[in-house]
Amino acid sequence: MTVRTETRMVIAGADATGAAARCLAAGGLVAFPTETVYGLGADATQAEAVARIYLAKGRPSFNPLIAHVADLDAARRIGRFDATAEALANAFWPGPLTLVVSRAAGCDVADLATAGLDTVAIRIPAHPVARAILAAFGKPVVAPSANVSGHVSPTTAPHVQADLAGRIDLIVDGGATPVGLESTIVGCFERPLLLRPGGVPRGDIEAVLDRPLAELPQHHGGEQPLAPGMLASHYAPRAAVRLNATAVGPGEALLAFGPAAIPGMDKASAVINLSARGNLVEAAATLFRALRELDGNGAQTIAVMPIPDEGLGEAINDRLRRAAI
Ligand code: TXA
Ligand code: MG
Repeated sequence: MTVRTETRMVIAGADATGAAARCLAAGGLVAFPTETVYGLGADATQAEAVARIYLAKGRPSFNPLIAHVADLDAARRIGRFDATAEALANAFWPGPLTLVVSRAAGCDVADLATAGLDTVAIRIPAHPVARAILAAFGKPVVAPSANVSGHVSPTTAPHVQADLAGRIDLIVDGGATPVGLESTIVGCFERPLLLRPGGVPRGDIEAVLDRPLAELPQHHGGEQPLAPGMLASHYAPRAAVRLNATAVGPGEALLAFGPAAIPGMDKASAVINLSARGNLVEAAATLFRALRELDGNGAQTIAVMPIPDEGLGEAINDRLRRAAI
């Protein structure tokens, strides 16, 4: 599946800020400069908008995304700030630091954006264009780097255009990004953990915390989501997951896809259809919530109907295979 959209490029300013906020509210994709790299933004609370990010980037898996917010009040609405997170937020925000914290009770960031995790990555960027857009929009914006998966992160609007023209709605050109590499990511766990080196040097963070940051095991690429088992950072259902089910067994719950019925469906302990019309964007948007709900229902096994391996189907199947391990 390919997406063809007309991509507008506008120079940063009051008009561009308004256009960006309207586009985000309508579920569109907007590339904008932060002080680190250009981000590809979507309304964090609209799961289908988030799904379109993965489609535009051609990401073969659903990595969790960073939620960008305008201020600390907005950050506290989505994440729980312990003493470590408070200290780092006070010292480095706004700026090139991302904090991974527990989701707050009322967190309205879509499950797809956090890949079903109980944690959320949050950043308050310092770039005036990013800040203006976040303030005008008033809700969290998830934004990975605005490049095709596997390409380097873009530091200018023409870089974004070269990668994503025709796949996103709007590019706000605010010139070259000053930092030029991604934010440092710190996991605010019992022991604060350096998840990715970046714009804020490790030493500056350790000076504020007055203790060393724990390390990820070696050979862990910063772009990869943490492996299953490590910090339990992949959502894993308690129930067994049976893929490519063409019939439902006794006591099984069913994760359905598409309009067709399969044998035994009427006796399933619970059924959720990812997309009755067989739409993969809708299916991606529903995936983590559906898994959680079926898992919470108490079935021993969740049978999953086959999902085509095209477009977002590749990432959906990647996640389902991991859940089935
Ligand atoms: O500078 C930046 O951070 C840029 C700008 C646009 O803000 N964004 C960026 O996003 O680099 P992205 O998607 O390319 O990288 C986000 C990283 C990924 O490695 C992801 O695994 C990690 O953040 N991440 C997000 N949420 C996480 C979570 N809950 N737990 C652990 N890692 C998380
Ligand atoms: Mg990236």
